Amino acid sequence: MREGQPSRTAQTVAFARAIESLQPREQRLFEDPYATRFLDGDGLWVLSLLRRTAYRRTVLYCIEQIGPGLLPYATARTAFIDEALATALGRGVSQVVILGAGYDTRALRTPNIETAVVYEIDHPDTQAFKRARLGADIEPLEERVRFVGIDFDRQDLGERLRSAGFRFDVPSFVIWEGVTQYIHEQAVDETLRTLAMMSRGSEVVFTYVDRALIEGTRSFPGGKRLLLAVRLFGEPFRFGLAPTETADFLRERGFTLLEDMGGDDLSARYFAPLNRTDRATDTERVALARMAETQG
Ligand SMILES: C[S@@+](CC[C@H](N)C(=O)[O-])C[C@H]1O[C@@H](n2cnc3c(N)ncnc32)[C@H](O)[C@@H]1O
Repeated sequence: MREGQPSRTAQTVAFARAIESLQPREQRLFEDPYATRFLDGDGLWVLSLLRRTAYRRTVLYCIEQIGPGLLPYATARTAFIDEALATALGRGVSQVVILGAGYDTRALRTPNIETAVVYEIDHPDTQAFKRARLGADIEPLEERVRFVGIDFDRQDLGERLRSAGFRFDVPSFVIWEGVTQYIHEQAVDETLRTLAMMSRGSEVVFTYVDRALIEGTRSFPGGKRLLLAVRLFGEPFRFGLAPTETADFLRERGFTLLEDMGGDDLSARYFAPLNRTDRATDTERVALARMAETQG
Protein backbone atom coordinates (compact mmCIF):
# COMPACT_ATOMS: atom_id res chain seq x y z
CA MET A 1 0.00 0.00 0.00
CA ARG A 2 1.28 3.46 -0.86
CA GLU A 3 0.85 5.85 2.07
CA GLY A 4 -2.09 8.19 1.52
CA GLN A 5 -3.41 6.31 -1.52
CA PRO A 6 -6.24 3.81 -1.90
CA SER A 7 -5.33 0.31 -3.05
CA ARG A 8 -4.70 -0.06 -6.79
CA THR A 9 -5.04 -3.83 -6.68
CA ALA A 10 -8.52 -3.42 -5.15
CA GLN A 11 -9.41 -1.41 -8.24
CA THR A 12 -8.29 -4.24 -10.53
CA VAL A 13 -10.62 -6.67 -8.73
CA ALA A 14 -13.51 -4.20 -9.08
CA PHE A 15 -12.62 -4.00 -12.78
CA ALA A 16 -12.90 -7.80 -13.07
CA ARG A 17 -16.32 -7.75 -11.38
CA ALA A 18 -17.50 -4.95 -13.64
CA ILE A 19 -16.49 -7.02 -16.67
CA GLU A 20 -18.32 -10.11 -15.43
CA SER A 21 -21.41 -7.98 -14.80
CA LEU A 22 -21.49 -7.22 -18.54
CA GLN A 23 -21.85 -10.90 -19.47
CA PRO A 24 -25.27 -11.91 -20.82
CA ARG A 25 -27.54 -12.82 -17.90
CA GLU A 26 -27.59 -16.57 -18.65
CA GLN A 27 -23.77 -16.67 -18.88
CA ARG A 28 -22.72 -14.59 -15.90
CA LEU A 29 -21.72 -15.90 -12.51
CA PHE A 30 -22.80 -12.79 -10.59
CA GLU A 31 -23.70 -9.17 -11.03
CA ASP A 32 -21.99 -6.40 -9.12
CA PRO A 33 -23.92 -3.23 -9.95
CA TYR A 34 -21.52 -1.05 -7.91
CA ALA A 35 -18.18 -2.22 -9.35
CA THR A 36 -17.91 0.52 -11.99
CA ARG A 37 -18.06 3.20 -9.28
CA PHE A 38 -14.49 2.39 -8.26
CA LEU A 39 -13.02 2.71 -11.74
CA ASP A 40 -11.38 5.74 -13.28
CA GLY A 41 -10.57 6.84 -16.83
CA ASP A 42 -8.73 3.83 -18.31
CA GLY A 43 -10.93 1.20 -16.68
CA LEU A 44 -14.12 2.96 -17.74
CA TRP A 45 -12.78 3.33 -21.28
CA VAL A 46 -12.03 -0.41 -21.53
CA LEU A 47 -15.52 -1.17 -20.21
CA SER A 48 -17.03 1.08 -22.85
CA LEU A 49 -15.18 -0.95 -25.50
CA LEU A 50 -16.39 -4.21 -23.95
CA ARG A 51 -19.98 -3.02 -24.28
CA ARG A 52 -19.54 -2.86 -28.05
CA THR A 53 -19.98 -6.32 -29.54
CA ALA A 54 -17.49 -5.59 -32.33
CA TYR A 55 -14.61 -4.99 -29.88
CA ARG A 56 -15.51 -7.40 -27.10
CA ARG A 57 -13.53 -10.46 -28.20
CA THR A 58 -10.42 -8.45 -29.01
CA VAL A 59 -10.45 -6.60 -25.70
CA LEU A 60 -10.93 -9.84 -23.72
CA TYR A 61 -8.10 -11.40 -25.74
CA CYS A 62 -5.79 -8.48 -24.84
CA ILE A 63 -6.72 -8.73 -21.14
CA GLU A 64 -5.90 -12.46 -21.24
CA GLN A 65 -2.54 -11.76 -22.88
CA ILE A 66 -1.62 -9.20 -20.22
CA GLY A 67 -2.53 -11.46 -17.29
CA PRO A 68 -3.20 -15.06 -18.34
CA GLY A 69 -6.06 -16.53 -16.30
CA LEU A 70 -6.30 -13.61 -13.89
CA LEU A 71 -9.70 -12.32 -14.97
CA PRO A 72 -11.28 -15.82 -14.86
CA TYR A 73 -9.65 -16.43 -11.47
CA ALA A 74 -10.95 -13.17 -9.97
CA THR A 75 -14.39 -13.95 -11.38
CA ALA A 76 -14.55 -17.56 -10.21
CA ARG A 77 -13.24 -16.80 -6.74
CA THR A 78 -15.92 -14.12 -6.36
CA ALA A 79 -18.55 -16.72 -7.30
CA PHE A 80 -17.07 -19.25 -4.85
CA ILE A 81 -17.10 -16.73 -2.00
CA ASP A 82 -20.60 -15.50 -2.88
CA GLU A 83 -21.83 -19.09 -2.59
CA ALA A 84 -20.04 -19.73 0.69
CA LEU A 85 -21.46 -16.51 2.12
CA ALA A 86 -24.99 -17.42 0.97
CA THR A 87 -24.64 -20.81 2.66
CA ALA A 88 -23.41 -19.20 5.88
CA LEU A 89 -26.29 -16.69 5.90
CA GLY A 90 -28.67 -19.58 5.27
CA ARG A 91 -27.22 -21.24 8.40
CA GLY A 92 -28.03 -18.08 10.30
CA VAL A 93 -24.65 -16.43 10.93
CA SER A 94 -25.27 -12.94 12.23
CA GLN A 95 -21.80 -11.46 11.80
CA VAL A 96 -19.82 -11.19 8.56
CA VAL A 97 -16.27 -9.89 8.63
CA ILE A 98 -14.62 -8.76 5.40
CA LEU A 99 -10.87 -8.40 5.92
CA GLY A 100 -9.16 -6.12 3.42
CA ALA A 101 -12.60 -5.42 1.98
CA GLY A 102 -11.40 -3.09 -0.77
CA TYR A 103 -14.28 -2.54 -3.19
CA ASP A 104 -16.13 -5.70 -2.20
CA THR A 105 -19.81 -4.73 -2.31
CA ARG A 106 -21.30 -7.88 -0.80
CA ALA A 107 -22.68 -5.76 2.06
CA LEU A 108 -24.95 -4.14 -0.52
CA ARG A 109 -25.54 -6.77 -3.18
CA THR A 110 -25.92 -10.09 -1.30
CA PRO A 111 -29.49 -11.36 -0.84
CA ASN A 112 -30.45 -11.51 2.88
CA ILE A 113 -27.23 -9.83 4.02
CA GLU A 114 -29.39 -7.48 6.09
CA THR A 115 -29.83 -10.33 8.60
CA ALA A 116 -26.16 -9.87 9.60
CA VAL A 117 -23.89 -7.09 10.78
CA VAL A 118 -21.01 -6.66 8.32
CA TYR A 119 -17.61 -5.52 9.58
CA GLU A 120 -15.54 -4.13 6.75
CA ILE A 121 -11.90 -4.06 7.83
CA ASP A 122 -9.41 -2.28 5.60
CA HIS A 123 -6.74 0.32 5.31
CA PRO A 124 -8.28 3.75 6.03
CA ASP A 125 -7.06 5.17 2.69
CA THR A 126 -8.93 2.49 0.72
CA GLN A 127 -11.99 2.86 2.94
CA ALA A 128 -12.15 6.62 2.45
CA PHE A 129 -12.16 6.18 -1.33
CA LYS A 130 -14.81 3.46 -1.12
CA ARG A 131 -17.13 5.48 1.08
CA ALA A 132 -16.79 8.51 -1.15
CA ARG A 133 -17.64 6.49 -4.25
CA LEU A 134 -20.60 4.71 -2.63
CA GLY A 135 -21.88 7.98 -1.16
CA ALA A 136 -25.59 7.98 -0.52
CA ASP A 137 -25.85 4.20 -1.04
CA ILE A 138 -23.80 3.36 2.02
CA GLU A 139 -24.87 6.09 4.45
CA PRO A 140 -28.27 4.57 5.39
CA LEU A 141 -26.53 1.23 6.11
CA GLU A 142 -24.06 2.53 8.70
CA GLU A 143 -25.77 0.59 11.52
CA ARG A 144 -25.33 -2.84 9.90
CA VAL A 145 -22.19 -2.10 7.86
CA ARG A 146 -19.35 -1.03 10.13
CA PHE A 147 -16.14 0.33 8.65
CA VAL A 148 -13.10 -0.44 10.76
CA GLY A 149 -9.74 1.01 9.73
CA ILE A 150 -6.61 -1.09 10.23
CA ASP A 151 -3.05 -1.63 9.10
CA PHE A 152 -2.75 -5.43 9.31
CA ASP A 153 1.01 -5.19 9.57
CA ARG A 154 0.88 -2.84 12.56
CA GLN A 155 -2.44 -3.07 14.40
CA ASP A 156 -4.19 -5.69 16.45
CA LEU A 157 -7.20 -7.15 14.61
CA GLY A 158 -8.86 -8.46 17.79
CA GLU A 159 -8.76 -5.03 19.42
CA ARG A 160 -10.04 -3.29 16.28
CA LEU A 161 -12.92 -5.78 15.92
CA ARG A 162 -13.94 -5.56 19.56
CA SER A 163 -13.92 -1.77 19.47
CA ALA A 164 -16.45 -1.93 16.62
CA GLY A 165 -18.77 -4.20 18.63
CA PHE A 166 -17.78 -7.56 17.12
CA ARG A 167 -18.58 -10.54 19.36
CA PHE A 168 -16.18 -13.46 19.38
CA ASP A 169 -18.77 -15.69 21.07
CA VAL A 170 -21.20 -15.58 18.14
CA PRO A 171 -20.70 -17.76 15.00
CA SER A 172 -19.35 -15.62 12.20
CA PHE A 173 -18.32 -15.80 8.59
CA VAL A 174 -15.02 -14.20 7.57
CA ILE A 175 -14.03 -13.24 4.03
CA TRP A 176 -10.32 -12.64 3.44
CA GLU A 177 -10.17 -12.26 -0.30
CA GLY A 178 -7.10 -11.12 -2.21
CA VAL A 179 -5.24 -9.94 0.88
CA THR A 180 -2.90 -12.54 2.41
CA GLN A 181 -0.29 -12.10 -0.33
CA TYR A 182 0.11 -8.40 0.46
CA ILE A 183 0.87 -8.68 4.16
CA HIS A 184 3.76 -10.15 6.12
CA GLU A 185 3.74 -13.76 7.30
CA GLN A 186 3.54 -12.62 10.92
CA ALA A 187 0.37 -10.63 10.16
CA VAL A 188 -1.21 -13.66 8.43
CA ASP A 189 -0.31 -15.81 11.42
CA GLU A 190 -1.63 -13.29 13.97
CA THR A 191 -4.84 -12.77 11.98
CA LEU A 192 -5.60 -16.50 11.96
CA ARG A 193 -4.80 -16.82 15.65
CA THR A 194 -7.19 -13.94 16.38
CA LEU A 195 -9.90 -15.50 14.20
CA ALA A 196 -9.39 -18.80 16.02
CA MET A 197 -10.91 -17.10 19.08
CA MET A 198 -14.27 -16.99 17.28
CA SER A 199 -17.06 -19.26 18.36
CA ARG A 200 -17.46 -22.82 17.06
CA GLY A 201 -19.16 -23.03 13.67
CA SER A 202 -17.40 -19.93 12.39
CA GLU A 203 -15.81 -20.16 8.94
CA VAL A 204 -13.12 -18.31 7.05
CA VAL A 205 -12.92 -18.16 3.28
CA PHE A 206 -9.60 -16.84 2.05
CA THR A 207 -7.37 -16.67 -0.98
CA TYR A 208 -3.65 -17.20 -1.19
CA VAL A 209 -0.86 -17.12 -3.70
CA ASP A 210 1.08 -20.29 -4.48
CA ARG A 211 4.40 -19.76 -2.72
CA ALA A 212 6.20 -21.25 -5.73
CA LEU A 213 5.28 -18.11 -7.67
CA ILE A 214 6.90 -15.79 -5.12
CA GLU A 215 9.95 -18.01 -4.68
CA GLY A 216 10.31 -18.54 -8.43
CA THR A 217 10.49 -22.32 -8.05
CA ARG A 218 7.70 -22.97 -10.56
CA SER A 219 6.93 -21.21 -13.79
CA PHE A 220 3.38 -19.90 -14.26
CA PRO A 221 2.13 -18.31 -17.50
CA GLY A 222 2.43 -14.54 -16.96
CA GLY A 223 3.81 -15.09 -13.46
CA LYS A 224 6.80 -12.78 -13.72
CA ARG A 225 4.65 -10.03 -15.24
CA LEU A 226 2.18 -10.37 -12.39
CA LEU A 227 4.94 -10.03 -9.77
CA LEU A 228 6.25 -6.96 -11.55
CA ALA A 229 2.81 -5.36 -11.90
CA VAL A 230 1.94 -5.62 -8.20
CA ARG A 231 5.40 -4.28 -7.32
CA LEU A 232 4.79 -1.27 -9.58
CA PHE A 233 1.42 -0.74 -7.85
CA GLY A 234 3.38 -0.49 -4.58
CA GLU A 235 1.68 -3.69 -3.33
CA PRO A 236 4.28 -6.47 -3.77
CA PHE A 237 3.46 -10.10 -2.99
CA ARG A 238 4.95 -11.02 0.38
CA PHE A 239 3.22 -14.15 1.58
CA GLY A 240 2.32 -17.43 -0.09
CA LEU A 241 1.56 -21.03 0.84
CA ALA A 242 2.42 -24.33 -0.80
CA PRO A 243 -1.00 -25.92 -1.55
CA THR A 244 0.25 -29.24 -0.14
CA GLU A 245 0.86 -27.54 3.22
CA THR A 246 -2.33 -25.49 3.51
CA ALA A 247 -4.29 -28.03 5.56
CA ASP A 248 -1.45 -28.37 8.12
CA PHE A 249 -0.90 -24.62 8.21
CA LEU A 250 -4.56 -24.13 9.12
CA ARG A 251 -4.72 -27.05 11.55
CA GLU A 252 -1.83 -25.60 13.55
CA ARG A 253 -3.84 -22.39 13.88
CA GLY A 254 -7.14 -23.98 14.90
CA PHE A 255 -8.93 -24.50 11.57
CA THR A 256 -10.01 -27.46 9.46
CA LEU A 257 -9.64 -27.07 5.72
CA LEU A 258 -12.93 -27.84 3.95
CA GLU A 259 -12.13 -26.89 0.35
CA ASP A 260 -9.08 -25.59 -1.50
CA MET A 261 -9.66 -24.69 -5.13
CA GLY A 262 -6.97 -24.06 -7.74
CA GLY A 263 -7.46 -22.70 -11.24
CA ASP A 264 -8.54 -25.99 -12.82
CA ASP A 265 -11.03 -26.74 -10.04
CA LEU A 266 -12.57 -23.28 -10.34
CA SER A 267 -12.77 -23.48 -14.12
CA ALA A 268 -14.43 -26.90 -13.97
CA ARG A 269 -16.95 -25.81 -11.34
CA TYR A 270 -17.93 -22.42 -12.71
CA PHE A 271 -17.12 -22.05 -16.39
CA ALA A 272 -17.52 -25.54 -17.85
CA PRO A 273 -21.24 -25.86 -16.95
CA LEU A 274 -21.88 -22.60 -18.82
CA ASN A 275 -19.84 -23.78 -21.84
CA ARG A 276 -17.44 -20.91 -21.20
CA THR A 277 -13.83 -21.39 -22.22
CA ASP A 278 -12.39 -19.14 -19.46
CA ARG A 279 -9.44 -20.78 -17.66
CA ALA A 280 -8.46 -19.49 -14.22
CA THR A 281 -4.78 -19.10 -13.33
CA ASP A 282 -3.11 -21.50 -10.90
CA THR A 283 -1.03 -18.74 -9.31
CA GLU A 284 -3.71 -18.17 -6.68
CA ARG A 285 -6.22 -20.33 -4.86
CA VAL A 286 -9.34 -19.92 -2.75
CA ALA A 287 -9.90 -21.99 0.38
CA LEU A 288 -12.70 -22.49 2.90
CA ALA A 289 -11.90 -23.43 6.50
CA ARG A 290 -13.97 -24.01 9.62
CA MET A 291 -13.04 -23.63 13.26
CA ALA A 292 -11.66 -26.97 14.37
CA GLU A 293 -14.04 -28.96 16.59
CA THR A 294 -11.72 -28.68 19.59
CA GLN A 295 -12.03 -24.90 19.51
CA GLY A 296 -14.81 -22.64 20.72
C1 LIG B 1 -6.45 -6.92 -3.94
S1 LIG B 1 -7.31 -5.92 -2.81
C2 LIG B 1 -8.65 -7.02 -2.43
C3 LIG B 1 -9.87 -6.26 -2.07
C4 LIG B 1 -11.12 -7.12 -1.84
N1 LIG B 1 -10.95 -8.06 -0.78
C5 LIG B 1 -11.55 -7.80 -3.11
O1 LIG B 1 -11.28 -8.99 -3.29
O2 LIG B 1 -12.17 -7.13 -3.94
C6 LIG B 1 -6.30 -5.92 -1.35
C7 LIG B 1 -6.91 -5.20 -0.17
O3 LIG B 1 -6.04 -5.37 0.97
C8 LIG B 1 -5.92 -4.13 1.65
N2 LIG B 1 -4.61 -4.15 2.31
C9 LIG B 1 -3.41 -4.48 1.78
N3 LIG B 1 -2.44 -4.35 2.70
C10 LIG B 1 -3.04 -3.92 3.84
C11 LIG B 1 -2.60 -3.61 5.15
N4 LIG B 1 -1.32 -3.71 5.49
N5 LIG B 1 -3.51 -3.22 6.07
C12 LIG B 1 -4.82 -3.11 5.74
N6 LIG B 1 -5.32 -3.40 4.52
C13 LIG B 1 -4.45 -3.79 3.58
C14 LIG B 1 -6.04 -3.07 0.58
O4 LIG B 1 -6.49 -1.83 1.11
C15 LIG B 1 -7.05 -3.69 -0.38
O5 LIG B 1 -8.35 -3.30 -0.09
